[in-house]
Amino acid sequence: MDYKAVEEIVRRAGRMIKEAYLSSDSVQHKEGDANFVTSYDVAIQKFLIDELHGIVPEAAFFGEEETEGNTREKELDGLCFLIDPIDGTTNFMFRYNYSCVSVGLAYARKMIAGFVYNPYVDEMFTAVRGEGAYLNGNRIHMPDSTLEDGIASFGCARYNDPNTDLLFRVVQEMFNRSLAVRCGGSAALDLCRVAAGASVVYLEMKLNPYDYAAASIIIEEAGGVITQIDGSKITLDQPCSILGAAPKAAGEVRDMIECIYSSTDDEEKLRR
Ligand code: IPD
Ligand code: CA
Ligand code: CA
Ligand code: CA
Repeated sequence: MDYKAVEEIVRRAGRMIKEAYLSSDSVQHKEGDANFVTSYDVAIQKFLIDELHGIVPEAAFFGEEETEGNTREKELDGLCFLIDPIDGTTNFMFRYNYSCVSVGLAYARKMIAGFVYNPYVDEMFTAVRGEGAYLNGNRIHMPDSTLEDGIASFGCARYNDPNTDLLFRVVQEMFNRSLAVRCGGSAALDLCRVAAGASVVYLEMKLNPYDYAAASIIIEEAGGVITQIDGSKITLDQPCSILGAAPKAAGEVRDMIECIYSSTDDEEKLRR
């Protein structure tokens, strides 16, 4: 596999984000509250599928947007690219300058490589299974921090029907125990920041595989852990909750969640 060629395609896709000129008629609503797609999300996914198909013709594609060539989760058994053309679409719409291209590669339902590119600051996160994680070609390895050592981050979206009752209780507790809390608006980038040691944990109650596929292998190869909030394995064929963290911080957040469940009279509501 020519991973350098994949990386170059991801970088070119990122430049399309940075050079975009967005008018109001290029934005449309998607299903759910405050959920949008722009003509750039679709065009960049189309570009990625066409270019990646050119170098890996045997691979299937599980992308976020409705475009030609998107086989979605149906063909995860062989080689499959999991693609988020713009992670952080709302940020992109408002020129918040914190969005990325995320491309993961799975084989037989296991992640084997990941590429996440932030064009605004020219940061390329990469990982290949067994070969470590890199930021712009430099190896990254996260320290095994606890919450009190650093920044705790989280994400949520109204359209994902998030369990905000539980989420905001956990965020309150993370706020009390960490040095600061942050919510960036791009799950893939926020997870890569954990990999790079910039924050100690990232938590979100519901994400889709294309949001976290690439970042999941980058976190693991950087020495971190990524699981669902109860510690079970993440899924590549359907949405799940995500806890990506340094191993110690992950344990603390899981304990915190158990403690919140056991101290409430309505545990069912929190587990919803
Ligand atoms: C969203 C971003 C956001 C997260 C949402 C995702 P999108 O992806 O990652 O940070 O909180 O849950 O849906 O739609 O901008 O690709
Ligand atoms: Ca996304
Ligand atoms: Ca997206
Ligand atoms: Ca989206």
